[in-house]
Amino acid sequence: MAEVWLASAKGPGGFEKQVALKRVKRSLRSSLELKQLFLNEACLAARMSHPNVVLTHGLERIDGDAVLVMEHVDGPSCRRLLARELDAGLLLPVELACSIVAQACEGLGYVHRQGVLHLDVSPENLLVTSTGVVKLCDFGVARWAGEPCDDAWARGKPAYFAPERLDITARVDARADLYALGVTLFELLTGARPIAQRSGATFGAPRSGEQFEGCPAPRVSAARGDVPAELDALVAKLLVPEVERRPRSCGEVSEVLHAAGLVRPIGLDAELSAVLARS
Ligand SMILES: Nc1ncnc2c1ncn2[C@@H]1O[C@H](COP(=O)(O)OP(=O)(O)O)[C@@H](O)[C@H]1O
Ligand SMILES: [Mg+2]
Repeated sequence: MAEVWLASAKGPGGFEKQVALKRVKRSLRSSLELKQLFLNEACLAARMSHPNVVLTHGLERIDGDAVLVMEHVDGPSCRRLLARELDAGLLLPVELACSIVAQACEGLGYVHRQGVLHLDVSPENLLVTSTGVVKLCDFGVARWAGEPCDDAWARGKPAYFAPERLDITARVDARADLYALGVTLFELLTGARPIAQRSGATFGAPRSGEQFEGCPAPRVSAARGDVPAELDALVAKLLVPEVERRPRSCGEVSEVLHAAGLVRPIGLDAELSAVLARS
């Protein structure tokens, strides 16, 4: 839907700063709905100010198009990080995956405290800077919590949808983002998604937990042997179909990861730097 460019903002006296520019793809620019969604994205993103969320500098009009101006993140997305490891026949070190998700929890928890649901948490939307800071990006489908449910809630990546997002009668809250974070963590740890791709997800058809495709999700420990029991249980809890059995907040998830000794600074350790360098 969108394209992102690296650009250089220039000013007097040789001033120069790299920024990222995002705009709706040219082929889609005639869609009023997409233009409206893009402005919604800009308005929500503009409110965010946190080290683990990509900073939005402004919204400009360039050649007649609305363009979002953001800080430029000089490192890979977690999707790319993971792809490089898989290409090399490796999995991400457990502590790297957990440290990424712990930082994502800080950013996402902040977003939730602003009253916003991100609704597109995925490896593509977690970027890692060259100094090891994880930044949540892309408010393209984000909504104010408590907004009435409509078709727009079905936007995003179905593979990361919590069951309640497919149910028009359900009230979606921050725990839908926690489910998506669980899918992301599962994927970072195993290289695969916990349930088969849901390609034909239909919005509006209520499903109970029992009917939910792929329920219960497989355990991370079934895919790799070096996963501590606390982490295995945490991922399983993030992925339960029943909202009320999931962790309630990002803080709760982060606490478990820290208590299990799975979080450390990213990039300071030789092993972690090597993964970043391969990306
Ligand atoms: N501020 C940024 N700095 C560097 N790369 C970015 C930035 N924002 C987005 N990207 C890159 O562009 C990709 C697409 O941007 P995103 O905002 O996620 O758009 P889309 O709505 O198309 O998914 C991201 O996955 C990331 O790789
Ligand atoms: Mg994206």
